[in-house]
Amino acid sequence: MRQMGEGSIAILPGAHEVVRSRDTHYPFRQDSNLDYLTGFPEPESMAIFIPGRPQGEFIIFCRDKDRSREIWDGFRAGPEGAQSDYGADDAFPISDMDDILPGLIEGREKVYYSMGSHPDFDTKLLNWINHIRAQSRAGVLPPGEIIDLEHMIHEMRVIKSTAELGTMRKAGKISAEAHCKALRACKPGMFEYQLQALIEHEFADKGAAAPAYSSIVGGGQNACILHYIENRAQLKDGDLVLIDAGCEYQGYAADITRTFPVNGRYSDEQKAIYDIVLESQKVAIEACRIGNTYNQPHEESLRVIVEGLIELKLLKGSVEESIEKGSYKEFYMHRVGHWLGMDVHDAGDYKVDGADSSWREFESGMVTTVEPGIYIHADNKKVAAKWRGIGIRIEDDIVIKKNGPESMTSGVPKEIDEIEHLMQA
Ligand code: GLY
Ligand code: MN
Ligand code: MN
Repeated sequence: MRQMGEGSIAILPGAHEVVRSRDTHYPFRQDSNLDYLTGFPEPESMAIFIPGRPQGEFIIFCRDKDRSREIWDGFRAGPEGAQSDYGADDAFPISDMDDILPGLIEGREKVYYSMGSHPDFDTKLLNWINHIRAQSRAGVLPPGEIIDLEHMIHEMRVIKSTAELGTMRKAGKISAEAHCKALRACKPGMFEYQLQALIEHEFADKGAAAPAYSSIVGGGQNACILHYIENRAQLKDGDLVLIDAGCEYQGYAADITRTFPVNGRYSDEQKAIYDIVLESQKVAIEACRIGNTYNQPHEESLRVIVEGLIELKLLKGSVEESIEKGSYKEFYMHRVGHWLGMDVHDAGDYKVDGADSSWREFESGMVTTVEPGIYIHADNKKVAAKWRGIGIRIEDDIVIKKNGPESMTSGVPKEIDEIEHLMQA
């Protein structure tokens, strides 16, 4: 509200329930921005902020109490609960929104609202504003500007508070332990979904609401499909398995990838690729420092990967040529990381200054993943057969701090000898 200034109103709708099939819905997940600002957990809600409004600056619209609906679908805070339990200054039933909200907008010069995510509400809001405009000769002041609200909230979310980091460390710890469970249990003949089940059991057992994204368990060449979520195949002796999975704990995501041998021992070829990815990840993590730009870890990881691929004769030419021409993209086709927070690909700009954009600098309290990988497609005829079908990614969650990078996911090993030891123990 301090950033918005007086004479403004912010309108923030919550998430909707989504039908899975006929009478069943996907588990409800609140909109991250609404959750971030209010903690209000229910569907059909809306938060309003009006700095300086004497009758109350923070308003919630939500479902009314309804005894019969509550018997079927569960507790509702109702407007009273929105005030007593969520700190709203004022609260109203969502069914009264059309009568109340236009009056709250009237007289405000600036409306903070993000167009595009709620098409029905966009239309409604524009109609209200036009209606206010039509009355302007009668002395009613119409808003002069609609300003993107999301961008302001996203820039707040990109810097995590001490409390948020505490929650994220817990998400990282639970997720790391889940990966350890999969490492210890894995053996040839198991199915990918069985490792998924072990991992997600650990999430649930430790109180995490759900996976933060669909868990990826890819054996053998399935590891080369970046968003492989079928997880139906059998794990073969001699293959690697790539697991990319993290829980959502109290609204915050973890995001971990480990790639390990199904039978507990890396082959020479697997080791050779793994060493490159691990080295590239370590140098990229080292580059996650205050004052470095967001792109530096990527560039560092890229240099190590290209050097390594040239050494193994998987890439031809010089390091500079490969980077300039992009020939490495056949093996490393994604960037090294992304912001992490309430969303797995979290909010926040990566570049600054619009048109002449440049990569932004790291600041204390930012959290990024570092996840380089090398993927050699099974049908890549340009490389010797022994390399084909190997896909390796290693991913950890890193906090930018004054004294350097901190990994929140170091609870699961990534050194070859440590992984082999854990698998054989
Ligand atoms: N698991 C999604 C990602 O690593 O970006
Ligand atoms: Mn991931
Ligand atoms: Mn990631």
